[in-house]
Amino acid sequence: DTVREDIGRGALWIHRHGGRVLAAMTIDDIQPEPYDAVEWRYGGLYVCVHRLAVDPAEQRKGIAGKMMAYAEEEAFRKGRKSVRLDTYGMNTAAVRFYEGLGYRRRGTIRLPKKDGEYICFEKSLAPFPPERFRALVTGSRSVRRFREDAAVSRERLEELVGMARLAPSGGNKQPLKFMLSSGHPRNGMIFPHLRWAGYMKDWDGPAEGERPAAYIVILGDREITEAFGTDHGIAAQTLMLGAASMGLAGCIIGSVDRGGLRVVLGIPVRYEILYVIAIGFPAEDVVIEDVRDGEIRYWRSEDGVHHVPKRSLGEIIFEP
Ligand SMILES: Cc1cc2nc3c(=O)[nH]c(=O)nc-3n(C[C@H](O)[C@H](O)[C@H](O)COP(=O)(O)O)c2cc1C
Repeated sequence: DTVREDIGRGALWIHRHGGRVLAAMTIDDIQPEPYDAVEWRYGGLYVCVHRLAVDPAEQRKGIAGKMMAYAEEEAFRKGRKSVRLDTYGMNTAAVRFYEGLGYRRRGTIRLPKKDGEYICFEKSLAPFPPERFRALVTGSRSVRRFREDAAVSRERLEELVGMARLAPSGGNKQPLKFMLSSGHPRNGMIFPHLRWAGYMKDWDGPAEGERPAAYIVILGDREITEAFGTDHGIAAQTLMLGAASMGLAGCIIGSVDRGGLRVVLGIPVRYEILYVIAIGFPAEDVVIEDVRDGEIRYWRSEDGVHHVPKRSLGEIIFEP
């Protein structure tokens, strides 16, 4: 009857092969009442997975793992933050299975009309753990030499702007506009108006063949506001991180001949030119160094590697 009801409300998912149902589960956001007493760790919207069952003849073939992967994907797609479930405490195979998938124990419950204890499990659907985010931030360095012949499509740039679109905005005014350039002739119009690596006096910027394959020009729409605050900074870093997540690299360019760029691109005065983000597949390595004796200037070593000093955590955490 329970399963029939699950079907009725569209919550039953099955794995079918050759006309046979090999596995089934229910996904919904209905918690059994005993869940109320459990100390769940993650807030926000969640889904519950109930009654995951695999045909005994088909077990140990990875079907349950596929079902759970599907459940998590479906939940993530719907904006849910976590998955909750329970399993019979004596079923050590199931307990090991969920723990193997990264589920954490949150306590035990008793279910009405059932014997024994059930272990409650929870898993966060955060897109990736903090160490992965740290790796993304660490890997997202300002790069100034690119593989110019490795094109970055307009679709890619639109995907990036689609991320920047979701960034925080002062007063939620969202005054930014984004102008895209992914090749000839616009790239050639933009490049001469950019100033590269102010500290590297004997380098004139990327030579032909190592210039960015694409640009995103961040504009501020003065009809929305005259004060863009830090919106463009946040948007710029969102684009940088998005690019890094795609194996691309970029450089935020604030030193721009704005008058010249406005003319060649035909940008009306209504729009303030804020930053140009250079984008492409990287053709140089960048490594982070410690700041020594207050020296924050970046440099390039003879092997062509770019070194960028960062102040220590101890130096930047402030205590009056
Ligand atoms: C607001 C802003 C403006 C920047 N303008 C330029 C620029 O005009 N030219 C350039 O070569 N790099 C520019 N950069 C890149 C910085 O030089 C770079 O962030 C800094 O050297 C630290 O390196 P990292 O980004 O790899 O941490 C800019 C960065 C920011 C945040």
